[in-house]
Amino acid sequence: MADGRLRYERVATLIEEQIARGVLRAGDRAPSLRSLSRHQRVSVGTVLEAYARLEARGVLEARARSGFFVRVPYAERAPEPRVRARLVAPRRVGRGALIAAVMDAAADPRVTPLGTACPSPSLLPYRTLNRFLRRAIADDAMHGARYDGTRGSPALRRQIARRAVLHGCASDPDDVIVTCGATEALHLALRAVCCPGDLVVLESPTYFGILQVVEALGLRVVEVAAHPRTGIDLDRLAGVLRAHRVAACVAMPTVQNPLGASMGVAAKRELVELLAGQEIPLVEDDVHGDLVFDLTRPPPAKSFDQGGLVIYCTSFSKTLGPGLRVGWVEGGRFTAAIERVKRTTTLSTPSLAQAAITALLASGAYERHLRRLRRAFSEQVARTSAAIAREFPPGTHVTRPAGGFVLWVELPPGVDAIVLHRRALARGVSVSPGPMFSATGRYANAIRVNCGHPWSARIEAAVATVGRLARSLFSPSH
Ligand SMILES: Cc1ncc(COP(=O)(O)O)c(C=O)c1O
Repeated sequence: MADGRLRYERVATLIEEQIARGVLRAGDRAPSLRSLSRHQRVSVGTVLEAYARLEARGVLEARARSGFFVRVPYAERAPEPRVRARLVAPRRVGRGALIAAVMDAAADPRVTPLGTACPSPSLLPYRTLNRFLRRAIADDAMHGARYDGTRGSPALRRQIARRAVLHGCASDPDDVIVTCGATEALHLALRAVCCPGDLVVLESPTYFGILQVVEALGLRVVEVAAHPRTGIDLDRLAGVLRAHRVAACVAMPTVQNPLGASMGVAAKRELVELLAGQEIPLVEDDVHGDLVFDLTRPPPAKSFDQGGLVIYCTSFSKTLGPGLRVGWVEGGRFTAAIERVKRTTTLSTPSLAQAAITALLASGAYERHLRRLRRAFSEQVARTSAAIAREFPPGTHVTRPAGGFVLWVELPPGVDAIVLHRRALARGVSVSPGPMFSATGRYANAIRVNCGHPWSARIEAAVATVGRLARSLFSPSH
């Protein structure tokens, strides 16, 4: 074991030295597994282990069917955004019209989709899923002919609970309620714990779908700044909890949308304990959690939940397909209340999609698919980030996401993201303007860029178009 470890570390060091000496440069292909194994007299498995470590450290990136490549170092990219932690008073949310307008415009299939956070269908296992769908119909043609129960398919809830254990959660299938996507999960969670007029804490910036749910439920929000790498600022959160009566906190501790931030394990525990100290429920949105670039998936905040106060919400939308509309909520002590709300909204989740996903999970194909998907996203994020550094005006800042497939881009002050969105759309490209991600009207000069599609001439041209437009809106005298 110790020898094996030394061997792969030796191989990893060799590659790092070649990069340091400039023998291997950014974008170069690393030696093939076979050739390096021959030259170094180690097994192919040892080289693969070394490359996997280098990939996790951000030195190499794997590209589907092409091998490993030296990553474009972050030093050659645009700098990271800074946190501007301004405290803003609680307020009602009124972002619905802007969000609807941007989403409707982006739905046009002729538009190059740098706006909505959707993975390319080419990366999703829809053929395998279709096979499982056909098989599910052949096994039991009655799927559409009866209710699956409000909590959802018992077999799917068992599969979900089994996977959760791998991530440190002591899940019980009885606590899992299958939902129509994470949007329904978030809606049910907040309806179960809040009444109209209540105050909820959100991260800033936050996923605009959360703002829509909060707006629809007539809640007020107070936003706490999230750091682009480490997530919600816990000191400021503690300050808000001292100053206000808060009904719930909604956060994305792993791969935050839009920042891609992931809180460390200790910070997640502290977040859970801080809220539990005042009996405040944490609604954890973990939609991008399976898409961390690291070798191991970090535990969700739910894994530190002692008192049943964390309501875990997620879905298969980003990993298997948004059209399946299958997600779930683990409600802790609020499970019965959530079930009551679901009974009055969608009553139950469509059975056929649940059956196909259950079979996919049981087959082991999901984990293999996730490994490929994470690699593809990591490459696409790196390429888009490098293109932004080339094409966007000086003074642009870009996040280094821990996973997922979106970049948060802060343009120089004075560039109006809503104008940029309109002009880009007129040229057939969608982007999501920053003001969609906050109830406060902040982030006027930021956009979120979707990297869910494989890098291609079309995507490259679309990034260049947005960059050119941003330059034209940028006046250095500002
Ligand atoms: C963080 C986050 N939560 C929830 C959702 C909604 O997911 P679903 O399509 O499963 O409703 C999304 C989709 O973009 C998301 O990014």
